[in-house]
Amino acid sequence: MIQNLETYFAYDYVSNDNDQHVIELVKKAEYVLDVGCGDNQFKKYGLVTGLDPFNLKADLVMDILDFCPDQKYPLIICFGSINFYDAKWVDDRMKKVATLLEDKGRMCFKVNPNKPFGNGVKLEWFDRWTMPLIEHYAEMFNYNIENVREGDNGRIKFDYVAR
Ligand SMILES: C[S@@+](CC[C@H](N)C(=O)[O-])C[C@H]1O[C@@H](n2cnc3c(N)ncnc32)[C@H](O)[C@@H]1O
Repeated sequence: MIQNLETYFAYDYVSNDNDQHVIELVKKAEYVLDVGCGDNQFKKYGLVTGLDPFNLKADLVMDILDFCPDQKYPLIICFGSINFYDAKWVDDRMKKVATLLEDKGRMCFKVNPNKPFGNGVKLEWFDRWTMPLIEHYAEMFNYNIENVREGDNGRIKFDYVAR
């Protein structure tokens, strides 16, 4: 399953969500980390470092767990990237991105509350990100939840803002 998913992300997945809210934030931000950037679609709007273990359009081809920069980021994008595989996998990466966020920083998320399949590929644990889980992580890391909105295919988009 995971092998199939890696191949899908490396060769077949196309990043086509040019979210206007994210674009406006990227234009204003000093620098940005895009976790699981796919084709790195936000890079053209600002100082974005795109990180992705499988997509060669990333600036850094690696798992987010292996990324240990000297700096923290005021804006982090996690658009459909650390919201599947299994609960521990997600939890580990949620903890990791929390360490990379500046005080009062913002993270833009896209998650999937209801569909276990993406373009015919079955994604493990892919449909578990409901509002209660979003609220759980907000409580765990002391984030406010802002800009909740619906994306294509029933996705939930929202921002976590560090208090
Ligand atoms: C559904 S795609 C989303 C890509 C892009 N963010 C977008 O908006 O189109 C999920 C991405 O997460 C990446 N990914 C998978 N495991 C990851 C990890 N451990 N760390 C960072 N990114 C990961 C995949 O390679 C894939 O490019």
